[in-house]
Amino acid sequence: MIILAVESSCDETAVSVVKDGRTVLSDAIASQVDMHTLYGGVVPEIASRKHLEAIYSLADRALEEAGITRKDIDAVACTYAPGLIGAVLVGVNFAKSVAYGLGVPLIPVHHVRGHIAANYITHPDLEPPFLCLCCSGGNTLLVDVQDYTTMRLLGATRDDAAGECFDKVARVLGIGYPGGGPMDRLSQGGDPKKYRLPRSKVDGAPLDMSFSGLKTAALNLIHNSQQKGEELDLPSFAASFAHAVADELVPRTMLAAKELGYGKIAAAGGVAANSTIRSELEKACKKSGDKLFLPKLSLCGDNGCMIGCQGYYEYLAGVRGDMTLNGYANKNIAL
Ligand code: KG4
Repeated sequence: MIILAVESSCDETAVSVVKDGRTVLSDAIASQVDMHTLYGGVVPEIASRKHLEAIYSLADRALEEAGITRKDIDAVACTYAPGLIGAVLVGVNFAKSVAYGLGVPLIPVHHVRGHIAANYITHPDLEPPFLCLCCSGGNTLLVDVQDYTTMRLLGATRDDAAGECFDKVARVLGIGYPGGGPMDRLSQGGDPKKYRLPRSKVDGAPLDMSFSGLKTAALNLIHNSQQKGEELDLPSFAASFAHAVADELVPRTMLAAKELGYGKIAAAGGVAANSTIRSELEKACKKSGDKLFLPKLSLCGDNGCMIGCQGYYEYLAGVRGDMTLNGYANKNIAL
């Protein structure tokens, strides 16, 4: 079964062709990063317009790279939530028009379910049930993946997402947008114990997280050192920050994994590319005996093939969109 998959929830337009869920025939991406870099963050209005400009030629490119024609498409999948609403609507509307024109099924896909599915492409042997730590620019969740389309939300950030936290700190340091990658590179060789940063605890909700206190503490540390004319040891600051984020994510992941008892843990989303988080997860899983599945680096960020992969499993479960399908800025992953 050949699925044309569309992703447009933030600042990457992506169209992919995926066969039978796990075989990627093409993965065309148009990044808007250069444009948003000028503003130090994503400008939603610009993002929507850039998706609109890119999406048609990107779909042609995806078909050409896959070596297929429009007649070969069996279904169209698209991210319909969550994301920047104007951006999401461009992809939804495009997918609707293609499905309508070709007379094939339309499959709505939850963006974070897509991130989880990036693991199926990386690891052909991975099957639910497993626990997934989902951490990206807009979402930070712990998800019980009971089967391909039955999910239970175990915990989530109460405020900022982990990626947003990396991005804001990197912006104040002036090291680039999006900031997670540059912060990760900066942290290499730094002393993670040099700067003290807070860890959060949510009363009565051990699997919930909070990043706003950490973000504020990190920004205050930068500003205080600037005001005192003291130079920050940047690699050590970045390493201390990465460990503070990892300390929010990894112990809660291990606690949830112990409660579930599946013996399988996956990670997903842009922040899952972080080298400290990956190595802390590896260490913790070595200790606990859980099997760890990490998406390959190229599939951590937004892409179309993860939507095609999850779209396949949603299709098998009978999920269909009709011509009234709408886009949503927020949507519970369990629904
Ligand atoms: O999954 P993604 O591409 O988009 C969303 O669905 O949100 O995630 C983007 C986020 C950004 O906040 C970016 O700074 C972060 O992922 N990111 C990283 C790394 N690479 C990307 N954060 C930490 N370390 C990285 N190596």
